[in-house]
Amino acid sequence: MSEIRNIVILTGAGISAESGLNTFRGPGGLWEGHRVEDICTPEALARNRELVLDFYDQRRAALGTVHPNPAHEALARLDREWRGDLLIVTQNVDDLHERAGAKRLLHMHGELMSALCEQCGHRAGYGGSMLDGTLCGACGTADALRPDIVFFGEMPYEMDRIDTALAQADLFVSIGTSGAVYPAAGFVRSARYHGARTLELNLEPSAGSYDFDERRMGPASVLVPAWVDEILLAQAGG
Ligand code: APR
Repeated sequence: MSEIRNIVILTGAGISAESGLNTFRGPGGLWEGHRVEDICTPEALARNRELVLDFYDQRRAALGTVHPNPAHEALARLDREWRGDLLIVTQNVDDLHERAGAKRLLHMHGELMSALCEQCGHRAGYGGSMLDGTLCGACGTADALRPDIVFFGEMPYEMDRIDTALAQADLFVSIGTSGAVYPAAGFVRSARYHGARTLELNLEPSAGSYDFDERRMGPASVLVPAWVDEILLAQAGG
């Protein structure tokens, strides 16, 4: 444990499940009543803008009714106390990591609480409805704001920064993700290729479970605090 200095953590919808936010590939495979591919694509936005903007308006509003759970809080504690490098890469678009206090954080799929202007590309924090014709704060264009969410077929954010962190990682930890969507699903192999140890904390085996050196199955609210205690104890032990 003492040789671990640089940690990369990948989180998915499973870390927010115990806060009450639905995961994407639950039992019915339908997410909030939609096929994910039918609501999270540029084509869906072009075909039925109002439906997509309303869908994300509702998800943005729902954030006010949920709170970080012990898994988010444990990662925020790790962020405060880990003396080495740390990068939390989340696939989630909720703001629960931030609200728990995480700072060394990157949203590779964008954020519900951010708007993207389709006219000028400006991204800015945003908490309201996108159906009310709000003007872009940078270029002033009306009705040009869309959810700052990376749709299927679009390029995730900050991949260079993620690749650099994976190349330098001594430990890669995956929490609450099914391993169904690339490039995130390939991070474990990239980390291993560069010599990192790999750990999966998940409710059930994922598509990539066999790529991990170690797998712990259970709820994130139990596994993550226990793991953070363990790694910080090892850091204290030197
Ligand atoms: N604790 C830990 N893991 C959990 C919990 C829990 N309480 N509840 C569910 N899980 C696990 C499930 O077993 C599953 O492996 O979380 C994972 C959730 O998988 P998905 O619903 O596929 O979510 P995710 O992996 O984040 O999806 C990746 O797909 O639709 C796109 O952009 C979207 O970011 C998303 C990406």
